[in-house]
Amino acid sequence: MKIKNNVTFVGKIDWELRKFHGDEYSTHRGSSYNSYLIEEEKTVLIDTVWSPYAMEWLKNLQSTVDLQKIDAVVMHHNENDHSGGLPFLMEKIPDVPVYCTKNGEKFIRGLYHLDLNYKVVKTGDKIALGNGKELVFVEAPMLHWPDTMMSYLTGDNILFSNDGFGQHYASEFLFNDLVDQYELDVECLKYYANILTPFAGQVKKKINEILGMGLPVDMICPSHGVIWRQNPTQIVEKYLQWADHYQENQITLLYDTMWQSTRVMAEEIAAGIQDADGEVVVKLYNLSQSDKNDVITEVFKSKAILVGSATINNGYLVSVAGILEEIRGLKFKNKKAGAFGSYGWSGEAVKMINSELDKAGFSRVNDGLKITWNPDNEQQELCRQFGREFVRLLDAENNR
Ligand code: FEO
Repeated sequence: MKIKNNVTFVGKIDWELRKFHGDEYSTHRGSSYNSYLIEEEKTVLIDTVWSPYAMEWLKNLQSTVDLQKIDAVVMHHNENDHSGGLPFLMEKIPDVPVYCTKNGEKFIRGLYHLDLNYKVVKTGDKIALGNGKELVFVEAPMLHWPDTMMSYLTGDNILFSNDGFGQHYASEFLFNDLVDQYELDVECLKYYANILTPFAGQVKKKINEILGMGLPVDMICPSHGVIWRQNPTQIVEKYLQWADHYQENQITLLYDTMWQSTRVMAEEIAAGIQDADGEVVVKLYNLSQSDKNDVITEVFKSKAILVGSATINNGYLVSVAGILEEIRGLKFKNKKAGAFGSYGWSGEAVKMINSELDKAGFSRVNDGLKITWNPDNEQQELCRQFGREFVRLLDAENNR
């Protein structure tokens, strides 16, 4: 499908995908692996697709262009979802130069052991395409891998942004103005929260660097999901907001329960929070019943979280351990936290959750709440008090 003038989408829309990065990222709405072909006086292919679709992609590419006419292959980022087609393509055109960053070459060699005609590029290097157009490279390390770069097509004013500004979102419509805006917003936020949160500093720096170049941007073509052609910089503005310690007026309770006692605690604490602040959005997620990436998106939106677990085998439940590990790795900033849980005789869970929240960089407002066995009316009132007090402590910290 033509994107603009002599630029064509030659990627693969993956309607089937429900898990990405192994089991690390849920893709409720599928995804796409966006590959682009530029046909000016020179013909340049940008990125490939995930290997299960490599042969299908190559066949389609051959029906679009004579592979022998390709003058250059640009690999913006070499994670498997974009580089999987490269070995198959390069069997057909082994001498064609492959443009990538220094790390890009290292990663392609590491993944596929290919000795290709590598052209290592840095920011400002370019390919003259003819017809007065150039493809200019911009390195973007850690957005989100060390090998990542972007490129800008002069004349057409297209930024090829690779993973940045993308979404795991399958659609035949291809452009941002043609798809359901709610779905698009949800997938953009989930993508940022689950993939780019740890790199907020680099996101801000790189966006400001690109904005500082003063280049006109008519279109942003990411490597997943739809292309931004209507008000393309709207997603850039959102990224700047999200990278700036983003939070909403939301408190999220994440818990797991064995025999419902910790669930009752969660609901009573939530009631206490709502008593103390009728405006704050309170959401509860039983971690063993919830999609972890959706939960992470809610954590991203929250100003504070409360994590609860029953005690088992002198520790906490596996689903709680899993989300705490996700939270640690994502390096959230500027968020408050607390812990709670029911226990029978030893009750280590709350202390252990506290320790993990500290390690994850959350600011803990208290030492948490432990209740033995099933909370009776008096203990349920304790939970509500804990919720009310949690709001008071958050406000006190904010006013400090
Ligand atoms: Fe879409 Fe980092 O690969």
